[in-house]
Amino acid sequence: MSVDTAVATAPSIRSGLKIPDHLAVIMDGNGRWAQARGKVRTEGHVEGVKALRRLVDLAIRYGVKHLTVFSFSSENWRRPRDEVNFIFGLLHRFVASDLATLIQNNVRVRIIGTRDGLDDPMSRLIEDVQKKTAANTGLELIVAFNYGGKSEITDAARRIAARVAAGKLSVEDITEETLERELYTFGIPDPDLILRTSGEQRVSNFLLWQGAYSELVFVEENWPDFGEQVFLKALAEYSARSRRFGGIESRSK
Ligand code: FPP
Repeated sequence: MSVDTAVATAPSIRSGLKIPDHLAVIMDGNGRWAQARGKVRTEGHVEGVKALRRLVDLAIRYGVKHLTVFSFSSENWRRPRDEVNFIFGLLHRFVASDLATLIQNNVRVRIIGTRDGLDDPMSRLIEDVQKKTAANTGLELIVAFNYGGKSEITDAARRIAARVAAGKLSVEDITEETLERELYTFGIPDPDLILRTSGEQRVSNFLLWQGAYSELVFVEENWPDFGEQVFLKALAEYSARSRRFGGIESRSK
């Protein structure tokens, strides 16, 4: 479906739901989904990719502007090597099989996280998908891959300290914006809503700085079971929240 068609038929307009400009998702529970069915964990990840496709489609249809998904954390390196390789392979296959559709749907892809530990083919893949979708103007799909919030902030602090040490920046001039400029997400608005599946209720080192005022919604379903019903349930909960950003008045998003 093209983005123009999608906007024209956006169900949100009919239902009166509040749609977050930026939705961030912790896609959790692939392993448990598989284990509950007597399958190997990697089968859960394969289903997880299908659920990711459904999410991208829903985000386009409902008019989400920025969608961030947590697909591999810096802590996921602690998993068995085979599983890590499998998830890396999934990113390759996702890009290979879905790039044309993403381009057709006007989706701009940005991959955030450290390039440390990634081999050359993976680094090339990341550059390639970002370059090929850079001119698109629809949904921005941000894939957090090899991402950790603490190391993102630590790296930012290190770069700022280097500028201070080089005499290019004075300590008094360091503001929140100075730090924001050094984050992977510079230029992307902070997430309005962080959704996590599988019943776990924590943020797990995801968008620590950016999520300071995000609404958190947790749903019981495992990620492979994600679809429109779960999406709408999460949006309904988000819509009922009153966002005050530390103040007293409610804002619209
Ligand atoms: C969490 O489930 C999922 C992951 C760590 C991997 C996420 C990957 C996908 C959803 C597939 C899409 C990925 C790419 C690269 C496009 P878990 O394994 O932590 O599940 P568990 O908590 O039940 O063990």
